[in-house]
Amino acid sequence: MLKTIDSLGDLRGKRVIVRADLNVPLDGTTITDDGRIRACLPTVKRLVDAGAKVVIISHLGRPKGAPEDKYSLKPVVARLGELLGQDVAFATDTVGDSARETVGALQDGQVAILENLRFNPGETAKDDAERLVFAKALAEHGDAFVSDGFGVVHRKQASVYELATVLPSAAGELVLREVESLRKVTDDPARPFVVVLGGAKVADKLAVIENLLDKADRILIGGGMSYTFQKALGHEVGTSLLDEEKVETVAGYMERAKGTGVELVLPVDNVVAREFSADAESTVVPSTEIPADQEGLDIGPKTRELFASKIADAATVFWNGPMGVFEIDKFADGTRAIAQAMSDASGYTVVGGGDSASAVRNLGFDEATFSHISTGGGASLELIEGKELPGIAILEEGTK
Ligand code: 3PG
Repeated sequence: MLKTIDSLGDLRGKRVIVRADLNVPLDGTTITDDGRIRACLPTVKRLVDAGAKVVIISHLGRPKGAPEDKYSLKPVVARLGELLGQDVAFATDTVGDSARETVGALQDGQVAILENLRFNPGETAKDDAERLVFAKALAEHGDAFVSDGFGVVHRKQASVYELATVLPSAAGELVLREVESLRKVTDDPARPFVVVLGGAKVADKLAVIENLLDKADRILIGGGMSYTFQKALGHEVGTSLLDEEKVETVAGYMERAKGTGVELVLPVDNVVAREFSADAESTVVPSTEIPADQEGLDIGPKTRELFASKIADAATVFWNGPMGVFEIDKFADGTRAIAQAMSDASGYTVVGGGDSASAVRNLGFDEATFSHISTGGGASLELIEGKELPGIAILEEGTK
């Protein structure tokens, strides 16, 4: 059982540090998907209503331990303010004068965001002691800690792990909802249980495939990672994404799938083009006949239908990773088809975070037609892999 905000007692007048994941996609300073900001609202609102002084901390992108303008959390401040309906203060550092002054000036029910945690090398340091030093400096800003950045709970980082060891801590509303929703998929899922995997890198998905080979009823594989499977079947893939080193591993999975009875479904056709651009001329070819000078950039119409039919009667569906280069409209149909099939399905449907979650929102789907859209890409995958996540384990009852 995870510790909840209730366990922190009366928070009126208390400074509560909230670790959120406000790592939103930006185009310059424009937020292109505010899903993660909206996802932190239940916790922030609850703390505001409880009369706490709310100090939000987060990372954005992967700066290397020093400030970089393009990774500033500044653009997030105004959007959070709009969504909350109240002003949000901003500190230009995390453990320096600006943070101390900003936190010191908070009144009950007010909210501040501190600058990107990863501008400080202590946040992501490999050395435990170095992370602890940074966590203790952060802890100066708070009387209690609420961990609500689900997207980073798989990272053993100062604000995710060590901070929870130095302050009275609890899981926030988002973390509780994410864990509950994803456990419905991992612990005894209703069947048929269908998993849809896509995205560019097959290496990122190997552990999840391995774990699901004897759990899922069907695994549908599309996107950039599918070409490594096609190669393992002996098909040429032209200039498509390919991870030569993983061909053998993938061939082994296909062999094992036969033994475990899981249905591994691969694309039967692909949208291909000579180059990866919006004005490239594209055609549809069978997946076994990708021309040598072309690359697969989406699943084709027959595959869309096939995958949709495999999703339609599922009682549980988990999806992570786009089926094609959905950022370019002409290669978005495969990803759109999966989102549509899930949105139409009557089973329990979970969209893993990252690109698939952004795709669902950016392609205009109603989020309410999915059972759960996770805010964590890597974190949700690691949970599905069956791993223990440090940022969750440290919030279990019995820990500080
Ligand atoms: C994410 O985008 O998946 C999370 O914000 C975690 O970011 P990270 O992979 O840079 O730790």
